[in-house]
Amino acid sequence: MKKGDRISGIIEKIEFPNKGILYAEEEKVVIKNALPGQKVLAAVSKKRKGKSEGRLLEVLEPSPLETAEDPCPHFGLCGGCLYQTIPYETQLEIKEKQVRELLDAVCGDYPFEGIKASPISGAYRNKMEFSFGDAEKGGPLCLGMHKRGSFYDVVNADHCRIVHEDFRKLLTATRTYFAGLNVPFYRKLQHEGYLRHLLVRRAVKTGEILAALVTTGQTECLPKEEAAVLEEWKKLILELKLEGTVSGLLHIRNDSLADVVQDDGTEILFGQDFFYEELLGLRFRITPFSFFQTNSLGAEVLYDTVRSYVGDTEGKVVFDLYSGTGTIAQILAPVAEKVVGVEIVEEAVEAARENAAQNGLSNCEFIAGDVLKVVGGLTDKPDLIILDPPRDGVHPKALNQIIDFGVERMVYVSCKPTSLQRDLIILQERGYRVERVCCVDMFPGTANVETVVLLSKLNTKQHIEVELNLDELDLTDVEKKTTYEEIRGICS
Ligand SMILES: C[S@@+](CC[C@H](N)C(=O)[O-])C[C@H]1O[C@@H](n2cnc3c(N)ncnc32)[C@H](O)[C@@H]1O
Repeated sequence: MKKGDRISGIIEKIEFPNKGILYAEEEKVVIKNALPGQKVLAAVSKKRKGKSEGRLLEVLEPSPLETAEDPCPHFGLCGGCLYQTIPYETQLEIKEKQVRELLDAVCGDYPFEGIKASPISGAYRNKMEFSFGDAEKGGPLCLGMHKRGSFYDVVNADHCRIVHEDFRKLLTATRTYFAGLNVPFYRKLQHEGYLRHLLVRRAVKTGEILAALVTTGQTECLPKEEAAVLEEWKKLILELKLEGTVSGLLHIRNDSLADVVQDDGTEILFGQDFFYEELLGLRFRITPFSFFQTNSLGAEVLYDTVRSYVGDTEGKVVFDLYSGTGTIAQILAPVAEKVVGVEIVEEAVEAARENAAQNGLSNCEFIAGDVLKVVGGLTDKPDLIILDPPRDGVHPKALNQIIDFGVERMVYVSCKPTSLQRDLIILQERGYRVERVCCVDMFPGTANVETVVLLSKLNTKQHIEVELNLDELDLTDVEKKTTYEEIRGICS
């Protein structure tokens, strides 16, 4: 087998997040986005010992797992979802197995409590960033998701199954309006054009909607004054028959070269630049750029799990690191002595402070800053720590500083089990033991999953036991005790 060869065969399994595994000539080849059980044709794109990769060319035969009724019509073309053709129960089994395999490789024996399903498996997302573009060069204006495996092409997502009907109405109306005006989308290579993204957030509990049109400042592309174009768009959206209510319509300027929704100035076209969502009886004000879990009903399951893993917080000082809009902090605050949240996005920190005040919680402190820079200077002494880092996990230097607090219990919430796997190696090396693990599926149809881990600090005896694995040695209890004591003597 060499680079460029065509290979075909059955995908044996899928590793997190989307790595289909095919064995060709007894070699493991990773084929992204191929599903277990599919017979595929692929082209070898990288050939390295034990690390070969192939590009999926064609699915020759579907997988016996692909029995979902009425899957999303965009599936396959759209890069958003991976598992739309697989029934939800089977998706859960796949994700659970992936996380178990990753943790088994680094954790030895630990209690794994399975995977909790999202309360709803369709129309669950409260946020989407739709992109403007075209599906093929020079094709009609599209508004939706990036085509699977493509950085440039965009496909429409008018029938997207993971969002509420209101999202779809906003998307279709916006695309039809701008296509009718012949307004060009922003071309990333040429840095030309006007339309970039449509950001939509819709609270599940309150039905409040915040939508933002993100454009460049290249107003010379417009057929008339920008203000008139935006005014018409606003009217059109406000006239839509929606189940929810529009709380705010925004125009966000973004002239950056990177393909991200970035704020170079926001104009409120209608209403306000925030909306409210409710979780576990608390109310949260959410601004366009602050992190908020994208599946509100799933977030209640996640936070409830975190609360049960944290256990007794009465009279305790809790650190909520990577706190976003302060959701976990506020869920724990009613019983705790004090909760300190640290979050890098200032807007989220302000929202967290306001939310805590509105929820009548006076024992929460929110600090704006990078955990890496802030954590060493915190003056409170924590009894418990919650870690809910972004996808890359905790910076190794920050993790060591966090471990130095020496708390008895930590709860690590992870949205990327491969990063969690890496961080668990350090946590265990430095004396923590994995006490409980479970997954919470917040992202049906897609490859993602949340994992919650309870870690407890080992005492010296337990630490020695784990390090030396004394149980594996054929020692009597008396010999073990003597060994502990000798080692403890050496250590001290
Ligand atoms: C997975 S979210 C968790 C947020 C929150 N715990 C929740 O459940 O809503 C991770 C958060 O970490 C923040 N973040 C990313 N890097 C950070 C850093 N270096 N220091 C502090 N916060 C950071 C992000 O802005 C985001 O709000």
